[in-house]
Amino acid sequence: MTQTLSNTAAPESRTDDRALVIRDLHVVPIAERSREILRGINLTVRQGEVHAIMGRNGSGKTTLAYALMGHPAYEVTRGEVLWKGYDLLKLSPDKRSRLGIFLAFQYPTAIPGLSVASFLRTALNARSRPLDQPQSEFDPSDATRGGINMADYRRLLREKMALLKLDDSFAARYVNEGFSGGEKKRLEMLQMAVLAPHMAILDETDSGLDIDALRIVAEGVNAQLNPDLGVLLITHYQRILNYITPDRVHVLAQGQMVASGGRELALRLEEEGYAPVLLEAGLEPDFEDERKSPEPAEAPPAH
Ligand SMILES: Nc1ncnc2c1ncn2[C@@H]1O[C@H](COP(=O)(O)OP(=O)(O)O)[C@@H](O)[C@H]1O
Ligand SMILES: [Mg+2]
Repeated sequence: MTQTLSNTAAPESRTDDRALVIRDLHVVPIAERSREILRGINLTVRQGEVHAIMGRNGSGKTTLAYALMGHPAYEVTRGEVLWKGYDLLKLSPDKRSRLGIFLAFQYPTAIPGLSVASFLRTALNARSRPLDQPQSEFDPSDATRGGINMADYRRLLREKMALLKLDDSFAARYVNEGFSGGEKKRLEMLQMAVLAPHMAILDETDSGLDIDALRIVAEGVNAQLNPDLGVLLITHYQRILNYITPDRVHVLAQGQMVASGGRELALRLEEEGYAPVLLEAGLEPDFEDERKSPEPAEAPPAH
């Protein structure tokens, strides 16, 4: 399924164990293999850096996020992704998570009957077993055997909820059931804080949010930034970048990264829309300039 292009690997990034290195990534949806969505993505994101990926709807942003996490609806037909000395694409999603990769969903699912506190504890335990520790030697309730005991977990949860300014009652609610758009995003932020990933992929965490909720998400991300955390911030609109300062901005169009730059690139997209940047990259912008189009209040359902 995965073809490894080891001969194209630059020696220095082979040894760079603090970077997610994506090389020549090609991805097709399983449902329609003849249709290549990603056509050779190259990108390096180091721990401690925030990279924004911008692109209009349908450009392949979610496909990139899913391919990195190992979503079964997508197949990587070419390329490699290096992380902590592993070819990530050869690992199951659960191993990717245990290696510190985290994906915040664009459209999180509700799980009636399961409290936020139990959900997060289960998630934390599921991913705390090191890759080289056999299941039989792992005990989720024993800190000396890779797990976390209840008292320590409660303390951790309380600390992270305080960091994100969440009310205590939040932990007892059922996962995403009856949550507003903003509350769903807060739970994604809390999940991220509890799991403390080394590479967080945030797929349109800003979509459908009013400005107050957007600010909460941005504050949530900013509160978590640290030298071990890399962030891949996927967004259609530049407005979240008013609150989270990216180190690099990349533009995804027609399955490829067509431009990269600093924060000024995002501001330019806001000013001019995507068309001029695509034209410069030699692409035909086959769509209306979206610069003035309002953001939808409600996100459409996921496919
Ligand atoms: N599972 C799938 N099956 C078929 N087509 C898909 C699938 N996922 C995405 N696509 C198509 O690939 C393109 C990119 O989709 P997506 O990655 O969701 O873009 P974005 O997140 O940038 O809006 C779209 O045209 C979409 O319809
Ligand atoms: Mg998307």
